[in-house]
Amino acid sequence: METRRAAITAIGHYLPEDRLTNADLEKLVDTSDEWIRTRTGIRERRILKDPDKATSYMATQAAQELLAKRNLDPTEIDLVIVATVTPDMFFPATACIVAAEIGAVNAWAYDVSAACSGFLFALSTGVRFIESGKHEKVLVIGADKMSTIVDYTDRTTCVLFGDGAACALLEPSDDDNGIMDSIEHADGSQWSSLCMLGGGSLHPPSPLTLEKRLHFLHQEGQPVFKAAVKGMADVAAEIVERNGLSGDDIRYLVPHQANLRIIDATARRMGVTMDKVMLNIERYGNTTAATIPLCLADWEAQLRKGDNLVLAAFGGGFTWGAAWVRWAYDGSGSA
Ligand code: UT7
Repeated sequence: METRRAAITAIGHYLPEDRLTNADLEKLVDTSDEWIRTRTGIRERRILKDPDKATSYMATQAAQELLAKRNLDPTEIDLVIVATVTPDMFFPATACIVAAEIGAVNAWAYDVSAACSGFLFALSTGVRFIESGKHEKVLVIGADKMSTIVDYTDRTTCVLFGDGAACALLEPSDDDNGIMDSIEHADGSQWSSLCMLGGGSLHPPSPLTLEKRLHFLHQEGQPVFKAAVKGMADVAAEIVERNGLSGDDIRYLVPHQANLRIIDATARRMGVTMDKVMLNIERYGNTTAATIPLCLADWEAQLRKGDNLVLAAFGGGFTWGAAWVRWAYDGSGSA
């Protein structure tokens, strides 16, 4: 039996208006615009300041943009998957809230927790529901309100992250384009290098967890950096090589936006020049599960049917992976 292929057929995104610049951070912690730019490539990030608006708000805005662009009836959606490490609350899943907000009353919904690889893992999951023939329309969203778990007294992490959301619609492909291949990995042996210790069943909320600031993201930058450079470059090279592609065949590398130096190493390993790399880290920082679909949203207008894209990510867990996507439609509007 021939396998159905899944294709991304629409993109939506949402970015909060408020900007947190390197100059703003210089007033909060002992850092400098020069250090942040040269070590990470970031100039500013977006922050959702309204304390009453959480990750589901941004995810809903992104989904509504997608529905409006495609003039799609939300009752046609079969499944909503939200990738996030900043869910509105532990349960219910943020995806359930989003599905209700957008009127996807016929959809089932769940969250995927895979940190910066979240969108790729959610995409891979959604693809299987299309390929198997179970579903016709799956909405995959990457959304994180990182500002709620970032410690703005810790200069080693607070300069890195921003808030945002973006999403992709998966439908059966009617030609040779679509999600061609994907690779996923996880290795929990170094989980403590990148985590949020407090609030779960290991360290339930208590005055002590608050005092020890365990409800903030914790990252050991150097070990994560080393693992990310190797993991992301290896997996991107693996997907290219096992599909017989060369750097020349790739229209765009779409990397997770954690650090310009990690992206540079990945591009070099793949033989892809930087003009073929989607980069928006300068403007948004690391939005965790939202980085890859936010890139797709920014470049959507330039994308053409048949363009080969390699999506690649590395993040907490550790988790990492890549996908080869042959783009399924010509972009419109402006990037
Ligand atoms: O997205 C999920 C996966 N995450 C990642 O991929 C992130 C991976 N890690 C990184 O991107 C980098 O490790 C960082 C950007 C987090 C840090 O860059 P680095 O080049 O690895 O710096 P470092 O941690 O080795 O620190 C170098 C120095 C230290 O000072 P000393 O000990 O040499 O005196 C830090 O204290 O830079 C200092 N430093 C800062 N200085 C100014 C650390 N953060 C800052 C800062 N401003 N914001």
